[in-house]
Amino acid sequence: MEDIQGRKIDYLRISLTDKCNLNCEYCMPKGICNEKVTMKMELEEINEIIKAFADLGINKIRFTGGEPLIVEGIEEIIRSTSKIKGIEDISITTNGINLAEKIEALKEVGITRINVSMDTLQEDKYEQITGKTGLSKVKNGIIKAMNLGVTPVKLNVVMMKEINMSEMSDFINLTRSYDVDVRFIELMPIGAGIKLFKDNFISANDVIKEHPELIRLGHQKASTAELFKVKDGKGRIGFITPLSCKFCNECNRVRLTSEGKIKPCLHSEEEYDILEYARQAVKAQGREEYFNSHQILKLKIEKIIYNKPAEHTLVEDGRSKSHRAMFQIGG
Ligand code: 5AD
Ligand code: SF4
Repeated sequence: MEDIQGRKIDYLRISLTDKCNLNCEYCMPKGICNEKVTMKMELEEINEIIKAFADLGINKIRFTGGEPLIVEGIEEIIRSTSKIKGIEDISITTNGINLAEKIEALKEVGITRINVSMDTLQEDKYEQITGKTGLSKVKNGIIKAMNLGVTPVKLNVVMMKEINMSEMSDFINLTRSYDVDVRFIELMPIGAGIKLFKDNFISANDVIKEHPELIRLGHQKASTAELFKVKDGKGRIGFITPLSCKFCNECNRVRLTSEGKIKPCLHSEEEYDILEYARQAVKAQGREEYFNSHQILKLKIEKIIYNKPAEHTLVEDGRSKSHRAMFQIGG
């Protein structure tokens, strides 16, 4: 469906939990209490919500977290999502720790694409950034995914000037031999990212200037990334530039938190609880009651999407207006 700005909204990102098995410095550093909320939505409720979104023209779903692969029953969630009429594409954003273990099952139940967050290729730096060991597990997961044909695997790399920028060329070189898309993301001043922002923000343009080997492929509609490749490279390199060149006017997405709240814009304070309406539909007795409560849920969602904020004001405000951190929203 279209929102008030005339943007076509066809993409829903669902955070399945705000828990994570890593402690990334810019997201959920050690010490942030993350024990309160687990997955609040039941499988039937998630299903009901996705059905309502699908009725409104959403055809792409991405599951995120926290870390979605620590959610028990993730396979069932994906399997049932793949059966919903209108859903054409189901993807997942993971930190990759449990990927090797899960990828076969995920593929079987209908995952078409995966994004793996991996900000470094070096084990010691991995521990510094994430607070945990396990980079080799992540790499194994990526290789397994590629071998199973879940390609292209996208690697999300948050650019941090003083932490991982020395590895830019190593990441770029990965695309020479592998069918992977490396996507460099500008660090955003949201949650724990606010503290790191001053010393570590670097704009995509500054990086691109330093890498003349990057050949511009241009911007694809509804893609948030500016794409490049290297000569004879198998994969691509993308830059996601929420700060230096915002893509709000092409935004096609809304988000659902693990507590069942819709966030129509990542950086806005607006959020709308729809879990109650989904529960009514799940509990409904008989066709008519179900139909009515499903209609109510749909109308609520329709109104929220229609009124999606026009844009974020990260640069003007210096920080996100969101009351939630990234691990509570999903990237
Ligand atoms: N700035 C940019 N990206 C972030 N992510 C989490 N926090 C931030 C931030 N402050 C990204 C992660 C991951 C996705 C879930 O969100 O790197 O790729
Ligand atoms: Fe790191 Fe992603 Fe977990 Fe945040 S949600 S701590 S970015 S792995």
